[in-house]
Amino acid sequence: MSFIDVQNIKHSFNSLNVLNDISLRIKEGEFVSVIGPSGCGKTTLLKILGGLLPPSHGNITIKDSSLDIAIKRRDFGFVFQNPVLLPWRTVLQNIELPLEIIGDQTPFAESEKLLELLGLKGFGKYYPKALSGGMKQRVAIARALVFNPDILLMDEPFGALDELTRERLNLELLKIWEQTHKTIIFITHSISEAVFLSNRVIVLSERPAKIDEIKEIDLPFPRTIAVKQSKEYFQYITWLRNKLKKS
Ligand SMILES: Nc1ncnc2c1ncn2[C@@H]1O[C@H](COP(=O)(O)OP(=O)(O)O)[C@@H](O)[C@H]1O
Ligand SMILES: [Mg+2]
Repeated sequence: MSFIDVQNIKHSFNSLNVLNDISLRIKEGEFVSVIGPSGCGKTTLLKILGGLLPPSHGNITIKDSSLDIAIKRRDFGFVFQNPVLLPWRTVLQNIELPLEIIGDQTPFAESEKLLELLGLKGFGKYYPKALSGGMKQRVAIARALVFNPDILLMDEPFGALDELTRERLNLELLKIWEQTHKTIIFITHSISEAVFLSNRVIVLSERPAKIDEIKEIDLPFPRTIAVKQSKEYFQYITWLRNKLKKS
């Protein structure tokens, strides 16, 4: 049994073919990144994986269940490039918003833990306007974790951040992944980010996207900044860059 089993997904928007027969298996607890040319269909694939968009063709099973059941079980948390926080709600109120939307009235005991996990301790009563871009994205990640989903789907979550903030959030995300054992599917246009974070990197071709390559990243965990100085790290980046050029 695969944790996530993607079978022959095809998708078109009217006459525009976007995904061309994507099949993929992901193991529980894996960190998988997806890279590919701009406009090739990465966001479309992520939306289909999380049940936000029904595919034109194909099937997805999560822990041997249909997507409908997986959604009801709240198997997914989403993080997008734009954190989309409500400016009139505090950090804590933003994190707890999904609970309110489903009418969960019980006080949420895990909030403090989430603040701590995301390095937001002491910021619960702040409003979004007082936060940096990196802090806002931490809040968005905490909100995605509020139902304790097994799977985190992330679409270029750090794409709008400066290099140093991005590097810090990469390390934080790895720490969260190691502590919580989530399965993470992470879209990025940064080859180096994909290599640094992942167990496997999936390279998509030009639209209509198919899987060009699946590359195992055999770098040691826990990954530290030192990994970025290793010969192997550069070799993976070079290899993937060449693959992307040819796609
Ligand atoms: N809702 C939609 N209706 C029509 N075309 C769409 C829609 N969403 C995306 N597209 C098109 O599908 C292609 C793939 O988009 P997307 O998945 O966002 O690519 P990526 O995330 O790889 O940049 C693009 O050409 C985009 O314009
Ligand atoms: Mg996209």
